[in-house]
Amino acid sequence: MAEFKEVPANAPLGQKLLGWVDNRFPLTALWKEHMSEYYAPKNFNFWYFFGSLALLVLVIQIVTGIFLVMNYKPDASLAFASVEYIMRDVPWGWLIRYMHSTGASAFFIVVYLHMFRGLLYGSYRKPRELVWIFGCAIFLCLMAEAFMGYLLPWGQMSYWGAQVIVNLFAAVPFVGPDLAILIRGDFVVSDATLNRFFSFHVIAVPLVLLGLVVAHLIALHEVGSNNPDGIEIKAKKDAQGRPLDGVPMHPYYTIHDILGVSVFLMVFTAIIFFAPELGGYFLEYNNFIPADPLKTPAHIAPVWYFTPFYSMLRATTDVMVNVLAVIAAIGAVLAILRGGLSGKGKLIVAVGTVVAIALLKTFEAKFWGVVVMGGAVIILFFLPWLDRSPVKSIRYRPSWHKYVYAVFVLFFLVLGYLGIQPPSPTGELVSQVGTIVYFGFFLLMPWWTRLGEFKPVPDRVTFAAH
Ligand code: HEM
Repeated sequence: MAEFKEVPANAPLGQKLLGWVDNRFPLTALWKEHMSEYYAPKNFNFWYFFGSLALLVLVIQIVTGIFLVMNYKPDASLAFASVEYIMRDVPWGWLIRYMHSTGASAFFIVVYLHMFRGLLYGSYRKPRELVWIFGCAIFLCLMAEAFMGYLLPWGQMSYWGAQVIVNLFAAVPFVGPDLAILIRGDFVVSDATLNRFFSFHVIAVPLVLLGLVVAHLIALHEVGSNNPDGIEIKAKKDAQGRPLDGVPMHPYYTIHDILGVSVFLMVFTAIIFFAPELGGYFLEYNNFIPADPLKTPAHIAPVWYFTPFYSMLRATTDVMVNVLAVIAAIGAVLAILRGGLSGKGKLIVAVGTVVAIALLKTFEAKFWGVVVMGGAVIILFFLPWLDRSPVKSIRYRPSWHKYVYAVFVLFFLVLGYLGIQPPSPTGELVSQVGTIVYFGFFLLMPWWTRLGEFKPVPDRVTFAAH
């Protein structure tokens, strides 16, 4: 317990008040620890805007969400009309709704860029593994939150999108059909589904999300931020124990981040005021038609931020399962022939591969599609241990590593594009290649991240005052 500090009787009122609070709650201590005496590397670049922007979007979503709930009706016979009521009759309702719908896409743009920064600078490496793991859990929550929120306007895409995705769970062996009924609360998507999705979207998932964001930041402040050079600034400190290459978060980065916030708000408001549907990418046109359980739309596509993963699901056909079985067999033969394994190790690899191939052929391709789609997110959790590069930042890795990242990003974007398009034979083939590239990038990391000529990492961060 901190010592009780007397505030002088002649101190200004503000100081007295703060002293009173500080003797009962560590307000000043928290401010110092996380803001005015939290030393962040002085060489942050624009990639470091996206963390604070994610916080801003989180606040926007919560505040606009609260106002939407005041007029939204979570009832299958009233939901669609209540959203139209918000758009037309509630004062400023259209603004609140467009802020929330644009905010959902903005959240994913910001978070994808925030994650990519982590990849560029090896921010998930020791000692920041937990920062990354909390981040991945946030990403999962965000996906659940967006998926359930999308059902609420009860348009055609809300309804049929939920129908398609919940039906996927029915492909899980043995428990699948019961699981799908448990999620829907009915045999088809219905009023019961709308009610439970509403409850999860407005309270359960946001609570978990908020808790995870707090844990994410506590973990980050425990170990300190990484930076574009991937150098630990805590290794070089002055006589007072302050990192030589650090600057206090407040006022330096609080002011710096205003630039990022301003640019973000310009783009965000331009979209809200001039193109809130963004050509059908942020709000799909089919969702302006009320849900009709008797009429399936010709083409059902999720919102853009899910489409890379949706493409991987569609890519997992019977042929793809055979290809995966062949890749597993080749991988096992190479591992055994390479010679690094003991006799027992070789036996384990051989038996494991035979079991894996038998399983691949036992269950239907649709189930493996679900596994691939889920696996594409789950694999991110293991990144800290997959990357074995001797340096963190891309700056000091062999130059060709940049091309590996470029190919990965390109295929991720192509997968995203194909997931929006109606299925086609060429699209299917390209998404199969994309899926293999995506998983290859991660699963082969222990091998390729160690290859090539690494550049010397400087002692101190590189920084040019501007
Ligand atoms: C609601 C979503 C999120 C919020 C509000 C959030 C917030 C933040 C903030 C404020 C920072 C410090 C500033 C910065 O480094 O940009 C940060 C750092 C970080 N975040 Fe997040 N984050 C979110 C999601 C994620 C996700 C999904 C991941 C990865 C899967 C992630 C991984 C990281 C990492 C590795 C760092 C440390 C970066 C470094 O020191 O170089 N975050 N986050």
